[in-house]
Amino acid sequence: MEKKKLHIKTYGCQMNVYDSSRMEDIVLPLGYEITENDAEADLLILNTCHIREKASEKVFSELGRIKKKKLDKGGDMIIAVAGCVAQAQGEEIMKRSPWVNMVFGPQSYHKLPEMIAKTMRKVDGKGVLNTDFPEEIKFDHMPKPRVEGKAAFLAVQEGCDKFCTYCVVPYTRGAEYSRSTQAIMDEAQHLVDNGVMEITLLGQNVNNWHGVGKHGREENLGELIHKLAEIKDLKRIRYVTSYPSEMTQDLIDAHGNIEKLMPYLHLPIQSGSNKILKAMNRNHTVEEYLNIFESLRNVRHDIALSGDFIVGFPGESEQDFQDTLGVVKKVGYASAYSFTYSPRPGTPASVLPKQVNDQIKAERLSILQQAISESQQTFNDNLVGKTLSVLMESTGRRDGQLVGRSPYMQAVHCLMDESYMNQLVNLKIISASKFSLEGELVI
Ligand code: SAH
Ligand code: SF4
Ligand code: F3S
Repeated sequence: MEKKKLHIKTYGCQMNVYDSSRMEDIVLPLGYEITENDAEADLLILNTCHIREKASEKVFSELGRIKKKKLDKGGDMIIAVAGCVAQAQGEEIMKRSPWVNMVFGPQSYHKLPEMIAKTMRKVDGKGVLNTDFPEEIKFDHMPKPRVEGKAAFLAVQEGCDKFCTYCVVPYTRGAEYSRSTQAIMDEAQHLVDNGVMEITLLGQNVNNWHGVGKHGREENLGELIHKLAEIKDLKRIRYVTSYPSEMTQDLIDAHGNIEKLMPYLHLPIQSGSNKILKAMNRNHTVEEYLNIFESLRNVRHDIALSGDFIVGFPGESEQDFQDTLGVVKKVGYASAYSFTYSPRPGTPASVLPKQVNDQIKAERLSILQQAISESQQTFNDNLVGKTLSVLMESTGRRDGQLVGRSPYMQAVHCLMDESYMNQLVNLKIISASKFSLEGELVI
């Protein structure tokens, strides 16, 4: 029988990228194959992100485009909206876009087979809405992941109990949940058995992962990384995203002791002002944050540090903003992501007084991004002349060029034979821009 076609469009964070490939793992055995062309899809899933207004708006404009594609196909297309917008605005999507067949949140992906079956049976044309936080854990009901390429994500933790006052994630992903050590080790072994060399552990608060060990004792992420490092053919380990007050000494030490743990840490601070951090309910100070980086540099002097910043949070004064710039100068980030504050419906910060106007937000963002760019350029310039191990993962824009990641997470381009694809190679860095490096093969 001819296979049906599945197309998933993914927005948002790495967790969504992971979830999309888990959804493929669930749907493919039902008689589907993946298509790159959304117009010919029998099942089209939008995996959405709700983090900022712009991200959410994309969903509704995309749905307009998709409606047309569905009509062009004679209506014979199941449209599904998954992810964080689905969780937050499920009913609204159903109301505004009645041609959508299924809307379901991140905790119900394991129920896709029954949701698809239900949709196919529906003769009244009413959609299937599933935004529950079910009792059972979806991870226990998912097939083993398909493996593509040499670098893979592995979700070890999901959800957030931190409730930063600007953020929707605690509402869209639900409470923090850690997968068991055994489940993680099994998935990692399966990935490595299928050729994976680099695993990135994922979680909204990944460094607060705590599993139960062999003897019922709780373990922390540092201990988990030690175990993973024992998997022989696994070459590189990363984890993202971390929360400052959950950086345990074990995890900091792991950066000094475990060679397979890459010298890179993404640790968002959001603001350089303690007043704003408090208003954000961040539960750490600027000084505590800087101390973590100092401890890390003590055990691993070359570690690349990364972070996230929000500018224009309600009540942010010029001085608060200057303090944020001060953090960028002090840390010397290898990379950092910065955003203007976006008021999200239902979050406490959205109704705070003293909202900062859009023009000031935009100006501050541009100044901050300039400072971050300079920091990135300096970090990258310091690598020129050094030899780095790089995992070649894709073809570059130029002919004969492959692109991989350095231990520090930058993209490294190199003119080389295609046979080096999917290999770990040593590249001598010959030039650097703020976003990437160029290397030469060292034989
Ligand atoms: N701990 C999470 C953070 C997810 S959100 C994780 O696993 O990645 C990623 C970043 O988006 C945050 O660190 C923050 O800098 C930014 N962000 C979150 N809510 C925002 C909002 N309302 N406006 C602007 N930026 C926001
Ligand atoms: Fe959002 Fe804060 Fe949780 Fe990160 S820690 S997901 S920013 S609430
Ligand atoms: Fe977006 Fe949800 Fe990730 S809101 S950033 S897709 S957790």
